[in-house]
Amino acid sequence: MKVLKIDSSPRSERSFSRRLTTHFTRSLGDVEIIERDLAQSQIPYVTEDWVVGVWGPEEAQTDASRKAMAIAGPLVEEFLQADHIIIGAPMYNFGSPAVLKAYFDQIIQMGKLVKMEEGQFVGLATTKSATVVVTRGGAYSPGSGAEAYDHQEGHLRVILGFIGITEVKFIYCENLASDEASQNDAFEKAKVDIAAVATSLS
Ligand SMILES: Cc1cc2nc3c(=O)[nH]c(=O)nc-3n(C[C@H](O)[C@H](O)[C@H](O)COP(=O)(O)O)c2cc1C
Repeated sequence: MKVLKIDSSPRSERSFSRRLTTHFTRSLGDVEIIERDLAQSQIPYVTEDWVVGVWGPEEAQTDASRKAMAIAGPLVEEFLQADHIIIGAPMYNFGSPAVLKAYFDQIIQMGKLVKMEEGQFVGLATTKSATVVVTRGGAYSPGSGAEAYDHQEGHLRVILGFIGITEVKFIYCENLASDEASQNDAFEKAKVDIAAVATSLS
């Protein structure tokens, strides 16, 4: 099995999401791990050339549009290779960090991760499943009473579903802005949830 580990926190050792995605991959045993560190990858925003490259007619293509579109090539390749995707996603301003959005904006290209069939979008990554570890200063998970502020889980579920990944598990590590004891509790609870997902994959 190949697992793509995507991290999006700009923090390194202090990052809860990175520590948890690493705990996840280490819990899996003998699998091949492909690492995609979005804090280091410098993924550019979509540009006009990119839009022409991906959506424009053949006659509008230029060297610049082909180059802009090709940036995603290796990213799409590693994404398609993986059987399982693990994403570390801190909550930033009630959504995900901009690098994670920039990543999906780059890789979700027509004919690569999605296609059009009889006027409908059809996802092409249907053989994969995903786990998303969300880390948050507050708490917004089901039952928290603040679900309406969570613009992260719904968005990630929709974009993963759009490209064909519907088997998605969320692991919540919340209340991290609280004292150390609460942080430790949240971290240990997330590790238990990770163990359950890792066992189901092994
Ligand atoms: C720019 C920024 C925005 C944040 N926005 C939120 C937020 O909207 N809600 C929340 O609960 N926590 C928020 N936080 C706290 C982070 O989600 C929390 O620190 C989390 O642990 C970050 O993940 P990491 O430890 O993997 O870096 C924010 C932190 C930063 C730096």
